[in-house]
Parts: sequence; structure tokens; C-alpha cells
Amino acid sequence: MQINYTEKIREKIENKDLKYIILTFGCQLNENDSEKISGMVEEMGFSKTEEFEKADLIIFNTCCVRENAEERLFGKLGEIKKMKEEKNVLVAIGGCMMQEKSMLEKIKKSYKYVDIVFGTHTMQCLPEDMYKAIIENEKVKNIIDIDGEIIEGLPIKRNDKTKASVTIMYGCNNFCTYCIVPYVRGRERSRNPEDILNEIRELAKNGYKEITLLGQNVNSYGNDNFKYCNSKVTSEINTFAKLLRAVNEIDGIEKIKFISPHPKDFKDDVIEAIRDSEKVSKLVHLPLQAGNTKVLKEMNRKYSKEEYLDLVKKMREKIPGVSFSTDIIVGFPGETDEEFEDTLDVVNKVKFDQIFMFIYSSREGTVAADRDDQIPEKIKHVRFDKLKDLYEKIVEEKNEEYVGTVQDILIEGFSKNNKKMLTGRTDFNKVVVFEPQNNEKQGDFVKIKITENHKWFLYGKIIKE
Ligand code: 5AD
Ligand code: SF4
Repeated sequence: MQINYTEKIREKIENKDLKYIILTFGCQLNENDSEKISGMVEEMGFSKTEEFEKADLIIFNTCCVRENAEERLFGKLGEIKKMKEEKNVLVAIGGCMMQEKSMLEKIKKSYKYVDIVFGTHTMQCLPEDMYKAIIENEKVKNIIDIDGEIIEGLPIKRNDKTKASVTIMYGCNNFCTYCIVPYVRGRERSRNPEDILNEIRELAKNGYKEITLLGQNVNSYGNDNFKYCNSKVTSEINTFAKLLRAVNEIDGIEKIKFISPHPKDFKDDVIEAIRDSEKVSKLVHLPLQAGNTKVLKEMNRKYSKEEYLDLVKKMREKIPGVSFSTDIIVGFPGETDEEFEDTLDVVNKVKFDQIFMFIYSSREGTVAADRDDQIPEKIKHVRFDKLKDLYEKIVEEKNEEYVGTVQDILIEGFSKNNKKMLTGRTDFNKVVVFEPQNNEKQGDFVKIKITENHKWFLYGKIIKE
């Protein structure tokens, strides 16, 4: 059905050399969706451009997790209005923000020049939406607010040639009280393990070396008993732990990462699978969100400060060389200075390799947004700066520990700041910059001896094995 629309558009725009640009806001799941959107529009015959002025089709893939992503979208839409008056450019907006009723209303009312609006559950209908907009000259708003089915087999145009993301499940059932995701992405829906493994085998065949398994809550993979899958699930790989082990067996794949797990679902089988699977990164992302037990309870995170620290301790005992990255929100409603100190305390104890820090952003429709004890912006910023200072101190300390060590690095390409130097990342996600020696290229693995610490990156030298 959608293929017919794709072909009709292809016939219509043939030889016109039409270009598209896609702007992606938000997380890696959105990046992965954008790769699928790109795959679909390239099959229709559009080719990619990075310049707005050259685009005949502009696609926004939106995020609504925090307010600043929304502000950036509206800023860009303002710029587009003028372009639209001068040139016949098609504007499409999709993604999480469009699943919010208030945002949809705002687009309909104030941004009438937008041609196509699609939701996270209707992305696969883009060929039909585009057909209606291009050929029938119709404005299309194609959103459904029920949980989507799982659509397999969409074309995909990947951004990278060595690293690839593979979505293993959609949606979230956790309803953390600050978070809008469960409202816009729907319930947890696990993909058929065979579809996931086939996708990764195909990637390996095409030269991909590093895979990131994606989901809002990857370690509850399979808990839905695969009831949303379109095909029958016959595989015995019905948990995240088993899936990790199966991906580890795929020849050609050399590194496996995953985001995001939830601490409450970090059971022993997952810990053991990380330990036993040599390709799985030992940098584990373990979103903390807050360090105080009362705040955690109000966030509906389902673990206490002590339980989080116990989990870290257990993983350190069981997984040699494990290290942690995390997400932290400062300024959740009602958080006192003392309670915030618990967050700093956990950071000091765990010594995270990487912290993604967020200022609490009130999201309409969530439980926390209705609270009348919101924290003033000024206090939120003071806390953010305190956390940042501590994080920087820890990064300095940890980097010093790296100097003199030898790291296996997958070459990602030339450094943006110095085209003569190559870059890659350590297993702990630190950027390493080094000089090529024998025409090493993107996708090669090299051994690097770390020689200098530059805070946000490390210098090193290629060494022979
Ligand atoms: N405000 C600030 N940060 C948030 N996150 C999710 N919702 C909000 C919000 N309302 C953060 C969490 C999550 C990450 C992806 O985004 O830390 O782990
Ligand atoms: Fe949001 Fe919590 Fe689900 Fe993560 S686990 S997507 S923070 S509701």
C-alpha cells in the first residue's frame, strides 16, 4: 500500500532533483526514527541536503521531553514561514511533540503553512501523507493516540557507516512523574527477537562494527510477551539478558552498547550477561535522576538511594572493570537543598564517567507539573552549576587515571578540529585524538596508549600489538 504511494511520488518528481533536509530533536530513538524517515523519502526520489535554502522538503522530527527542544522548533518554524512565501517548499512535522494535543492545536492554529503532521505511531504512513500533500494538494494531520503496532521492514538511511542503532522496543510503562514519554510514546512494545537479530546480522554483513540497542527501558524487553508483534515469536530469546548474549554471538560485531536501562529492572541475569559477553561495553548507563530517597519516591522511580548504591556495589563485584554513566535532574518540585546534597553524595560515591545533567522542566499532563512547590529557576541553576563543578572534578581525576593505559579504539573518522588527526572513543566513551600512522581508516580497531589529559578529550599514540 505505502509502496504504491512511494512509486507514484517517484514518478511525479522524477528528474526534478528534489532535495530534503531533516532536523532531529531529542534522543537517539528519535535519531533512529529519522534514519527511517530518511530511508522512506529517499525511496520516493528525494536526495539529502544539509542546507535549508536548497530544500524542497523540510522535515522536523520533534521532542517534548524538555521545554527547550520545543522552543527551538518554534524558532525554526518562524524562519521557515518566509521561505514558504518565496518558494514552494513542503513542510512536515513529526515525532513526540505532535502526540501532545496542545502542541497539535498550536500548529494547526498558528502555523497554518505546515503541510503534513505525523505522530510517532503513524510515521510509516509518510508516503501516503506525502502523496496527498504533493499530488492532491491536501493538508494532512495523521496522528493516532492509541499504542502503535510494530512496523517492520521500513527502509532506512543510516547516518554512520561503522556504528548503528537498533531499536529493540518502543514505549514506556514507568510513568516517572516528571516525564512525558509514556504519554507520547505509548506502552512498552518489544520487537520480535528474530527481526532484531536479522537486522544486526545484516548490519554486520555491511561492515558495521558497533551496535547500540535502543529503548526507553531496555531491560524490561520481553515483559509484554511480544503481544504487539505482527509476526509469531518462536524464539526462546525472550529477555534482555538473552538478547544481549545472542547479539554477542554475531560475527563481525565488535562492540555492543545499550540505552536506557532502568535500575529497578537490573536483575542478576542482565548483570551476568554483561559480565560474560566480551563485546558488551562495560560502561553501563544507570539513570539515577536524584539521590534522595524521598525525591526518588515522588518521582516514582521505585528504588531508594541505598538500593541504587547497593546495585552499583553488586555490579562492581560481579563485572570486572565496570563503570557508570547516568542521567540526573536537578530542581524536581519540592526538592530541598538538603535533598539535593544526596544527589551530590551519590555522584561522589559512584564517580560516574559521564553525567547527562538536566534542569527539571515542567511538562503539562505529568503528575509533577501539577505540584505547587515548583523550584525557582535561579535555585535550579545554582544546583546545576554545583553538580557541574563536581562532575568536572571527577572527570579530571578519572582522566588522570587513564594516562599511561592502553585502550582499544574504533576509529570514527577525522577530528572536526584538526583534519590530520583521527578520533575514536574508549570503552568508557572518552574521546581520544591521535595521529594516523599507516593509513588507518574509519572502522578500523587500533590500540592507543593514552599520553595526555585535556579534560573533555584525551591524546594518545597508536601502538603495535
Ligand atoms: N525535565 C528534565 N529532564 C527530564 N528528563 C525526562 N523528563 C524530564 C523533565 N521533565 C530527563 C531524564 C531522562 C532523560 C532522557 O531526560 O533524566 O532520563
Ligand atoms: Fe520517562 Fe521514566 Fe520512562 Fe525513562 S523510564 S522514559 S524517565 S517515564
